[in-house]
Amino acid sequence: MQTIKQYVKDNEQRLLDELFALLRFPSVSADPKYKPEVLKTADYVAKKLVDAGAEKVEVCQTAGYPIVYGEKIIDASKPTVLVYGHYDVQPADPLELWKTPPFEPTIRDGKIYARGACDDKGQFYMHVKAFELMMQTNTLPCNIKFMIEGEEEVGSNNLGIFVKENKNRLKADVVLISDTSMISMENPSLETGLRGLSYLEVEVVGPNRDLHSGVYGGAVANPATILVKMIASLHDEDNHINIPGFYDKVINLKPEERAALNAAPYDEEEYKKDLDIAEVWGEKGYSTLERTGTRPTLEVNGIWGGYIGEGAKTVLPSKANAKISMRLVPNQTSEEITELFTKHFESIAPKSVKVTVTPHHGGEPVVTPTDSIAYKAAQKAIAESFGKEPIPTRGGGSIPIVALFEAELGIKTVLMGFGLDSDALHSPNEKYDIYNYYKGIETIPLFHKYFAELSESK
Ligand code: BES
Ligand code: MN
Ligand code: MN
Repeated sequence: MQTIKQYVKDNEQRLLDELFALLRFPSVSADPKYKPEVLKTADYVAKKLVDAGAEKVEVCQTAGYPIVYGEKIIDASKPTVLVYGHYDVQPADPLELWKTPPFEPTIRDGKIYARGACDDKGQFYMHVKAFELMMQTNTLPCNIKFMIEGEEEVGSNNLGIFVKENKNRLKADVVLISDTSMISMENPSLETGLRGLSYLEVEVVGPNRDLHSGVYGGAVANPATILVKMIASLHDEDNHINIPGFYDKVINLKPEERAALNAAPYDEEEYKKDLDIAEVWGEKGYSTLERTGTRPTLEVNGIWGGYIGEGAKTVLPSKANAKISMRLVPNQTSEEITELFTKHFESIAPKSVKVTVTPHHGGEPVVTPTDSIAYKAAQKAIAESFGKEPIPTRGGGSIPIVALFEAELGIKTVLMGFGLDSDALHSPNEKYDIYNYYKGIETIPLFHKYFAELSESK
């Protein structure tokens, strides 16, 4: 531990400068405008892996953005850790809400403000630097492989093909990912599950053109009105989701599992204060931690139609649209839920409009084991570097690769995230505490150490 701390201290400024260089690339995967920048980011990541001591580093082309691979095999008889992360980021919009530019990382109050600071550049880069540390101090105790992708924020559509075609190269004993949150630095935690996702877009079309709302209003169905009515009907008065069959496959947690999750530190007053809301909201009969971690949900991500410019325009719009996503829990599948939604949404449309549902992307829910050697190694690593046992939690977000690794390679994942929910992922002014960045670099080598030790004594 002393060697680790000393290394981080001796290289403090450089470790930060390199992350800043990575954060300056606007690697927004959703917007084709940034394509050259996304590609440059992949090259930068590859270079940093080489610099850190990785071998067989390759920028692997896919039908979309490349996947950066690198490895260090010290001894084929030792266990192998596969580190996954993503170098792409969410769009920075709305730009005007950023206090400092999203792609010019700025430190305020000990925190790094930039798009991707926490999700996931700041977090995956800790692994590159922890690897460098282990190489430089001659302490790498196991084999390590890196797979850093560039399409996570748009659904990892080409990753499945890559994993299928590279089963041998990706062989490992565990997948290690830092792309989730902890409760707080005082209450370190490990996420033991992620929700799945079904994302789709709906369109409601009425008359063949925008109409004068006085001449035609009241006699022709308004697609915007119809759309919001349809959407409103998707939750009942207890905020259960009103889609037939939606809950059929949901595995309900045992009372003791629910109690364990609810025992995690959580202050509802603080939660409300942070978000400036008078009351929380959600499915009746469940706590906030259960609602975000263990229950499926349906959200409108965007909705539009008609006139939204300056001033007023009296118009009855020809169409209205919405982007809708559902978070899924075991054993729901994104394919089945997309199908159930589509059938239901089409069935509730009045004859006065035409409705189309177009699926975007999906991901499957996962629960990660807490009785594995790898989980124990993560527990020990965190206990040592934080001086406190980590609390198991369930994450509300989705990382599609986790279920895919399990299905295709039979490898389980450990989610050792160092972010905080308050890091404003996907929001303006995303941040990552410098403290968390260094803490992560210090904790990761301990994971490898304990994983190798525990594997040996198995
Ligand atoms: N890192 C997040 C997922 C996450 C965040 C999990 C916090 C747990 C806690 C990831 O980059 C992400 O944003 N995933 C998307 C899914 C993707 C298919 C667009 C998500 O959850 O919306
Ligand atoms: Mn992420
Ligand atoms: Mn994200």
